[in-house]
Amino acid sequence: MASAVEMIDITKVFPGVVANDKVNLRVEKGEIHALLGENGAGKSTLMSILFGLYPLDGGKILINGKEADIKDPNDAAALGVGMVHQHFKLVQNFTVTENIILGMEGRDRFGNLDVRAAEKRVAELTERYGLAVNPKDTIENITVGMQQRVEILKILYRNADILIFDEPTASLRPQEIDELMDIFKKLRDEGKTILFITHKLKEIKACASVCTVLRRGKSVATVQVADMSEEALAELMVGHAVQFTVDKKPAQIGKTVLKIENLNVANSNSTHKKALPAVQNLNLEIHAGEIVGIAGVDGNGQRELAEAIAGLVPVQSGAIYLDGQDISGNSIRQRIEKGLGWVPEDRHKHGLILPFRLDENFILKSFRKDPYSGKLGFLNFPIIAEHADKLIKDFDIRAGKGPATISAGMSGGNQQKAVIAREIDLSPDLLIVCQPTRGLDVGAIEYIHKRIVAERDKGRAVLLISFELDEIMSLCDRIAAISRGSIVGEVDAASANEREIGAMMGGVKA
Ligand SMILES: Nc1ncnc2c1ncn2[C@@H]1O[C@H](COP(=O)(O)OP(=O)(O)OP(=O)(O)O)[C@@H](O)[C@H]1O
Ligand SMILES: [Mg+2]
Repeated sequence: MASAVEMIDITKVFPGVVANDKVNLRVEKGEIHALLGENGAGKSTLMSILFGLYPLDGGKILINGKEADIKDPNDAAALGVGMVHQHFKLVQNFTVTENIILGMEGRDRFGNLDVRAAEKRVAELTERYGLAVNPKDTIENITVGMQQRVEILKILYRNADILIFDEPTASLRPQEIDELMDIFKKLRDEGKTILFITHKLKEIKACASVCTVLRRGKSVATVQVADMSEEALAELMVGHAVQFTVDKKPAQIGKTVLKIENLNVANSNSTHKKALPAVQNLNLEIHAGEIVGIAGVDGNGQRELAEAIAGLVPVQSGAIYLDGQDISGNSIRQRIEKGLGWVPEDRHKHGLILPFRLDENFILKSFRKDPYSGKLGFLNFPIIAEHADKLIKDFDIRAGKGPATISAGMSGGNQQKAVIAREIDLSPDLLIVCQPTRGLDVGAIEYIHKRIVAERDKGRAVLLISFELDEIMSLCDRIAAISRGSIVGEVDAASANEREIGAMMGGVKA
């Protein structure tokens, strides 16, 4: 039987970088195939080529044994190839069904839009593939996990047999990840072929049968997942052994750096006047030399908490003290000057100015200062370039044109590393890091964790907000659980267990 996908000697060149260098990939029908590789290895590029988003510079593609000329996503769709992107492309105020049929609306015999027939077909697909969604729900009212199902239904509705996913679990909750893995298996059992990119080795072990590894633009191995441990997969990917645990000395706790008193922050997602505040009477204290983690299920106020400290959203009442001064009325710039650093959850929206060069993004918060600006206010370009070179080297940021690379053209993980590099480099008194390792490869995670611990050991206060309990448990000194906008309990990380934290996240007071 012919393979579902064969990509032979695929080459793709971007300015300054060979993103795919004679890559070979073979995916059999009905297989779940994982694509693994360091940040910038060329995974998204390879999948974008298969889906017709980028033209090839060399090589050829066979779909079901036949050579295919895929010039755009319509060609890909006609060949049964569908892709679910990391950032969904749904119309927020349309219903599930409307989104699914958008662009291929059927008409009844009177020429009217046949919503009924479409709904019936959507219901059939939902049932068959175990994709529970309500076809009448509006997108803006459903969870991220549900929206992803709509994206999957959208490509199934167009009869896709080969389904591509680029980091599908990056913004899902743990339970949604398990559900997605089950959906993958169900799709496979129904004869679909699945290709997915992930940095999480656990997911590969949980559901893929075959894994292809890319390194610096080249395909270095295709392995049977059953034969490989997580450690072996990691080593294959980065070329050396990776340490999965965080080494740290006992914390040397110093003075109070952050003190939050009875904080209330409005719910930014709701225009309803009587909606409950996102943050409610929240109290929290963080000292110099410690990492405090906020554990919680997405949507319990952790985002608004971080944004209120950073100055993005106003506080309704309460106080935020940074080094003893109430900053709750300060501008963002004043807060930065008083020693606040922030790695936002959304690197595109709040982390980087995408059309700017990498070196410009590195000095967004410090360009007014010495040594980047001289006394007369002119930028000192040689020093800015030197600074960028250093961060690129220290954080191993892969950017084709070095400091001059436009940030929009960098891979997701490398954009993430750039934001973290900028914030850590400033070494602020209080460093807030939200989902810091989202989209990073295991090698990069190891390095970033080390650097966060180094900040703590320098006597900085670190606030970590993460949906990954593993990350919170291994990195933090103290863990506070948030539920419905309030801290429901705090535990010492050394003696914490997952069950206890899980119960607190569910609102059970410690
Ligand atoms: N549109 C683009 N313009 C310029 N360079 C690009 C573009 N897209 C990708 N690149 C470059 O190609 C290389 C591979 O990027 P790609 O996005 O495929 O990596 P990736 O393996 O998906 O990484 P990540 O795990 O970080 O998402 C990177 O060096 C990146 O900077
Ligand atoms: Mg990518």
